Amino acid sequence: MEPQFGCCQLCQYMRIDPRRSELTQPVTFLAGASALACPPTIGPSMPSVQIRPYNDADAQSWLRCRLLSFFPTQYYDDVVIERPNLDEPSIRLVGVIGADVVGILDVSISDDAATIETVAVLPEHARTGTATRLLHAALPELRRRKVRTLDAWTREDPAANAWYQANGFDERFDYLHVYKEPDEDNTAFAAPEGVRPVRVFAHAPIELEAHMRARFRRVYVCRQYILDLKGAAPSTADYAQRRRNG
Ligand SMILES: CC(C)(COP(=O)(O)OP(=O)(O)OC[C@H]1O[C@@H](n2cnc3c(N)ncnc32)[C@H](O)[C@@H]1OP(=O)(O)O)[C@@H](O)C(=O)NCCC(=O)NCCS
Repeated sequence: MEPQFGCCQLCQYMRIDPRRSELTQPVTFLAGASALACPPTIGPSMPSVQIRPYNDADAQSWLRCRLLSFFPTQYYDDVVIERPNLDEPSIRLVGVIGADVVGILDVSISDDAATIETVAVLPEHARTGTATRLLHAALPELRRRKVRTLDAWTREDPAANAWYQANGFDERFDYLHVYKEPDEDNTAFAAPEGVRPVRVFAHAPIELEAHMRARFRRVYVCRQYILDLKGAAPSTADYAQRRRNG
């Protein structure tokens, strides 16, 4: 049987949770809102990043932010040239300095489960709390909608994994992302008569990791992280205190 792996947009779309197939009403709280409640300013060196809802005028800057943020990561070639549509309801936030988008957070919501579709911050603004502020700006709306879990999927980049863990997410599931490059063995890939797979992107169960790594150069563990929103809310005050304490 084909393995069924759940994923965000970045990981190529397959959903396993049947709760997510029924979409509810669009998010309305963002309409007309000029800014959302955010965690307090964290320190004197904090750049003046404003957290606010995404709007259409952000489109080009949003794409630039996504492109440059993922460039140093294992998702370097996951490039989009149009902002992906999100099924509603969703939460779409940006961190901006003036008109420049420096951080993005997209969350899709399906009943009582939500998924981080994209979270990214420009490298030059890394470790200034921007992604955490974006997350904390989204949490009240997720709770208002009685969302029980927020999950996310990511590969092995230390920054992403550390960020999820620092924000209270627990690892729940892992599997493999496997790329077959043109010069690599394609005997394992079935294709219609006369068709030869040149590049392949595939999902595989974690149990095949050693086998996949022996055959292909580009193999990543993709982890699902999950934040239980019914538990104690990660407190922005605690986060600010922790940063002050180093
Ligand atoms: C992951 C990412 C969004 C974090 O954004 P950020 O604004 O730099 O993160 P924050 O400043 O909110 O970091 C909060 C905490 O996360 C952890 N963290 C974040 N980046 C880290 C890094 N490079 N190394 C270790 N820990 C890190 C730390 O605990 C940090 O707290 P601290 O700075 O007080 O030690 C950013 O690195 C990024 O855009 N990466 C590329 C895109 C990506 O991988 N997205 C997620 C996977 S789909």
